[in-house]
Amino acid sequence: MRSYSLIAPAKINLYLEILGDRPDGYHELVMILQSIDLADKIDLRPIGTDAIRIHCDHPQVPQDQSNLAYRAAELMVEQFPDVYARFGGVEISIQKNIPVAAGLAGGSTNAAAILVGIDMMWQLGLTQPELQDLAAKLGSDVPFCLGGGTALATGRGEQLSSLPSLDSLYVVLAKDRNLMISTPWAYQAYRAEFGHSYVQDAKTLKSRAERMHSGPIVQAIINKNHAQIAQRLHNDLEKVVLPTTPPVSQLREAFESCGALGTMMSGSGPTIFALATSQAHANEMQQQVKAMIRDPDVEFWVTKFSNRGIQVVSAVN
Ligand code: C5P
Repeated sequence: MRSYSLIAPAKINLYLEILGDRPDGYHELVMILQSIDLADKIDLRPIGTDAIRIHCDHPQVPQDQSNLAYRAAELMVEQFPDVYARFGGVEISIQKNIPVAAGLAGGSTNAAAILVGIDMMWQLGLTQPELQDLAAKLGSDVPFCLGGGTALATGRGEQLSSLPSLDSLYVVLAKDRNLMISTPWAYQAYRAEFGHSYVQDAKTLKSRAERMHSGPIVQAIINKNHAQIAQRLHNDLEKVVLPTTPPVSQLREAFESCGALGTMMSGSGPTIFALATSQAHANEMQQQVKAMIRDPDVEFWVTKFSNRGIQVVSAVN
């Protein structure tokens, strides 16, 4: 059996609208998800024993069952017990570059890489829809992370339609290393404040999700109109995170005043991203915001939109 190295890219949300409640306790969403070049590296190695082992170089990443990558491996063991009994376990090593609990799907993309890697290691030959179904059992963003690129996501976030790729935009990310926001908290806080305005009936929910396919930001993406995309960025979760987390709104204001094409919080935050037309524009914005914020705990990354999800970079015997 072979060992595999995979690249697992982060994502940002160009759009996140909360429509209403779902019977399963989650929210009905319409989102536009975008892969970026900032990525973790995952190494998967077969081990002859019946165990799943996980290592990560980052102190905030759990090295047990609470890690979503571990749960992805456990799910494969549950689904394919005979193959596991024949081939034995896996050792997972995660080289973490994506900030943790940041709204960038770091855990989700690691889990997606484990599904792809174990599928190859055990020669299961799973189809893309089969991998998507397994991914949806692990989390709402995991199906997107498999194929990546630019996509419209509806339902819980797991129903995907590809959009034309936008790989020529640059992005600056900024996050205070001491800030972490719990995604369940952000959604609960949103429900508590805005639940009264949720769409209640299934027919309206469906038509709102369908209308998104021809909505203004999708049109801007189809036309590759960067200025319009930037104007139409939207994230409902900002309404609960920005007022309660002043450092996040300060960062957002700083990017706005430094010439960002557009700026927004990603997912449930606390990462703020700012769009730029070139690497030079992105670097300049990063320098200006750094000088304005003057906080050594705020970390920055300059990266680019990507049209790819999980990539296998090597397979060795
Ligand atoms: O699916 P995932 O585990 O990534 O979701 C994390 C949390 O975000 C959920 O436990 C839920 O509180 C919230 N969520 C939601 N509706 C969604 C997706 C996530 O309420 N569609």
